[in-house]
Amino acid sequence: MVVLGSSSSCCSVAIVGAVLVLVLVLNGADLCNGGKTSTFVRKVEKTVDMPPDSDVFRVPPGYNAPQQVHITQGDHVGKGVIVSWVTPDEPGSSEVLYWSENSEHKQKAKGKVNRYKFYNYTSGYIHHCTINNLMYNTKYYYEVGAGHTVRQFWFITPPEVGPDVPYTFGLIGDLGQSFDSNRTLTHYENNPQKGQTVLFVGDLSYADNYPNHDNVRWDTWGRFVERSVAYQPWIWTAGNHEIDFAPEIGENQPFKPFKNRYHVPYRASNSTAPFWYSIKRASAYIIVLSSYSAYGKYTPQYKWLEQELPKVNRTETPWLIVLMHSPWYNSYNYHYMEGETMRVMYEQWFVTYKVDVVFAGHVHAYERSERVSNIAYNIVNGLCVPVDDQSAPVYITIGDGGNLEGLATNMTEPQPKYSAYREASFGHAIFDIKNRTHAYYNWHRNQDGYAVEADSMWFFNRIWHPVDDSTSV
Ligand SMILES: *[C@@H]1O[C@H](CO)[C@@H](O)[C@H](O)[C@H]1NC(C)=O
Ligand SMILES: *[C@@H]1O[C@H](CO)[C@@H](O)[C@H](O)[C@H]1NC(C)=O
Ligand SMILES: *[C@@H]1O[C@H](CO)[C@@H](O)[C@H](O)[C@H]1NC(C)=O
Ligand SMILES: *[C@@H]1O[C@H](CO)[C@@H](O)[C@H](O)[C@H]1NC(C)=O
Ligand SMILES: *[C@@H]1O[C@H](CO)[C@@H](O)[C@H](O)[C@H]1NC(C)=O
Ligand SMILES: *[C@@H]1O[C@H](CO)[C@@H](O)[C@H](O)[C@H]1NC(C)=O
Ligand SMILES: [Fe+2]
Repeated sequence: MVVLGSSSSCCSVAIVGAVLVLVLVLNGADLCNGGKTSTFVRKVEKTVDMPPDSDVFRVPPGYNAPQQVHITQGDHVGKGVIVSWVTPDEPGSSEVLYWSENSEHKQKAKGKVNRYKFYNYTSGYIHHCTINNLMYNTKYYYEVGAGHTVRQFWFITPPEVGPDVPYTFGLIGDLGQSFDSNRTLTHYENNPQKGQTVLFVGDLSYADNYPNHDNVRWDTWGRFVERSVAYQPWIWTAGNHEIDFAPEIGENQPFKPFKNRYHVPYRASNSTAPFWYSIKRASAYIIVLSSYSAYGKYTPQYKWLEQELPKVNRTETPWLIVLMHSPWYNSYNYHYMEGETMRVMYEQWFVTYKVDVVFAGHVHAYERSERVSNIAYNIVNGLCVPVDDQSAPVYITIGDGGNLEGLATNMTEPQPKYSAYREASFGHAIFDIKNRTHAYYNWHRNQDGYAVEADSMWFFNRIWHPVDDSTSV
């Protein structure tokens, strides 16, 4: 057993006696500026991958049965869905049959099939089919595998884009396929708040941790998460484990498996690459950025984001959410400052356009920041510290999905002022938009019951209710 962190660490006041420290720990109270380092005590177990013959990796029965079924938003406004799946034996049909709950009439959408090779691995037949012009707020059934083994699933389209539509997003990052990953997914599924769409902040399968980036582990991951992502969209962000750059085995094209397997509607937001794009969903405008594509001045991502931010109409979509993989504000001793160069490029824009919240992963732990910015520095003035800024987003690191690399437990001490809460446990979070002014956010650790909240915060919208929503005393 290990006590994770200690709340004494954030106070540099040396005169605080041991007894007082103990009182502080027991109160869970926090009288120092550095926010809270959780004292939650967790059993430390090695994080191990589920073996290939695990129940969650089972191949569905039947000749050429579609597997690894997953959906994501297929257009800019939520009336489209991309359905993807893999057939193992032969290409089969790339058609999706779909019908709304109240209709008998089955409609057809035509997709495409492709395969890719990676070193000595050849993928199955990967199908992607975009369904367009769906009705909002409607349950649809869909079928894949026409001609051979047919499998049926369903999804519910989001309500029409508008300022006061409630909507509930789940947040998962750095998931992998360990026993802990399965716990995280199970907790998300059983959370009574019922997430309607997952915002996934990158690092999916961790296949690249296997010899020759064994792409069979991309297939097992696809089968593992099907039980959620075949029924609700996951919005994809590319992480470093999606790069799969392996010149030592002749694989020089970054993101090859990810790009072949996970399609996103990037063209709908006039992006030129699937690693950065945007969608509107209900009352949220979601911008996905790539920590592993060029983001300096004049680059495609920079130019796109520069034009994108002014387009966000907060009367239509009050909530502006950004997803990226590598966090800008991270006080763990893992991946420390890796997000710094991107922060330098874009942070001013996030403050100018009043981004509500930024979700990142990469660090295998949990952390939530205060609203801070660090944009005053200009090389000569020395103004290089994060300061309170009510126009700045809250930064949340949610890279605690539970992959085989294990937890990040080593934190910088003392806890920096900008860090509101940090804890080295696996889990997931929920961002529950109530209306244009209020959203309820909470984080769940896997050790607790499904309904238990370990950290929470009421978000006040930066445009419609720009009141201080800090949780610190
Ligand atoms: C790929 O190569 C590795 C070793 O180089 C071997 O262990 C594995 O069985 C091969 N896989 C296939 C599908 O040929
Ligand atoms: C994964 O979790 C599900 C419950 O959600 C359980 O049925 C299954 O047995 C678990 N599999 C493994 C390998 O842990
Ligand atoms: C994409 O560009 C086209 C042409 O300039 C424009 O009509 C459309 O509104 C743009 N779409 C988005 C989502 O910005
Ligand atoms: C912003 O959205 C609102 C509500 O949909 C609309 O009335 C308004 O015209 C939009 N503003 C701009 C500049 O497009
Ligand atoms: C934690 O990280 C710091 C900085 O990298 C390092 O000096 C220290 O040895 C680490 N502590 C442990 C217990 O690993
Ligand atoms: C928005 O939601 C919050 C929290 O549920 C509630 O207190 C507030 O009254 C709502 N605002 C409006 C205008 O309904
Ligand atoms: Fe990562």
